[in-house]
Amino acid sequence: MYIYYSTFVSGFENAVKDFLIKSLDKTKIVLLLDGLVVYTTTTDVNKVKELRFVNNTFILIKEFSDKNLSLDLMLNELVNNAKLNIPVLSVRQKTFRIITSKENQLSAVDNTLLIKLEEKIKYFTKYRTNRKKPDIEFWILLRSEGRGFFGMRITHNHDSAKSLQQGELRPEVTNILCQLSDMNKTDVFLDPFVGSGAIPIERVKINKYTRVIATDNDKKLVNYLQTNVQRMNLKIEVYNGDALVLPSIANNSIDKIVTDPPWGIFNKKSESELNIFYTQMLQSFFRVLKPGGVAVVLLGQRELFLDLLKDFTDKFILEQNFSVLISGKKAGVYKIIKK
Ligand SMILES: C[S@@+](CC[C@H](N)C(=O)[O-])C[C@H]1O[C@@H](n2cnc3c(N)ncnc32)[C@H](O)[C@@H]1O
Repeated sequence: MYIYYSTFVSGFENAVKDFLIKSLDKTKIVLLLDGLVVYTTTTDVNKVKELRFVNNTFILIKEFSDKNLSLDLMLNELVNNAKLNIPVLSVRQKTFRIITSKENQLSAVDNTLLIKLEEKIKYFTKYRTNRKKPDIEFWILLRSEGRGFFGMRITHNHDSAKSLQQGELRPEVTNILCQLSDMNKTDVFLDPFVGSGAIPIERVKINKYTRVIATDNDKKLVNYLQTNVQRMNLKIEVYNGDALVLPSIANNSIDKIVTDPPWGIFNKKSESELNIFYTQMLQSFFRVLKPGGVAVVLLGQRELFLDLLKDFTDKFILEQNFSVLISGKKAGVYKIIKK
């Protein structure tokens, strides 16, 4: 049984811990850090690498903990002392490279040590080095609290930033948002600020549903998404509409809303404008949600939105909230339930 570690969006620690336990068999959480979890499971490695709510997953080869830890110290230990138990997952994998990362930034190391570690890996595995396009990557990862991990990456860069549209959420974020809504096959699901469609597209991919509705007030985006949905043959109903009114959605008709409304940073809305906007949004959500219906909302505003929710205590229960970092920006995720 391997020990794994996965990186994920900082701030979602408790959600990721719960999802791991739910998604994998006999999961034991060994260590939970900001944006990184170490765990064991009896589930097959091929299923572990398919988890969509994490950024990357690695098989742990060696762990380090020392307040004076550096990448070179880790490299030195790996070259000179460590016994390297390198897993072989596929006989087709023949080439590798070593990536060194400090506090989430790729970071240069002593090249002589790096070459020595490459030689050691070659000796034990018979793999060849390929620094440009390898089959396998070994990562030496150093974190700010003096913890380090050496592991073999088992996930591929499934959706690299290049293939995302501007403002489009990454799949690991949309996956967590959808999962937080407690998905159910009877769900009538709505994303009223749909943009590129990342949230409803993830929703239809990961679980059964009854209806998935997507709306946006930008006609161009709606046209684009309609074409995309047709091309991908997805059962998503896409409409043009104002989320503050939702004219085509009946009262008490929606089970789940999962959405990413404008954050107010880029379109420079003032605080009072945002207050009015989010108030109207919550009124509109209250109208269309069924009693007990859930809304999961991702917002760049924290204090403002939490303050605003105080005016809605007769309408919504705030069940969970997370302070997260999305593409380096502080954001909040709120799960509210209609009373
Ligand atoms: C933060 S973006 C959503 C991005 C989306 N989650 C994605 O991954 O592509 C917010 C979206 O809300 C839309 N929007 C802004 N005001 C709106 C309103 N009053 N009604 C409906 N949509 C609105 C914008 O056109 C934009 O597409």
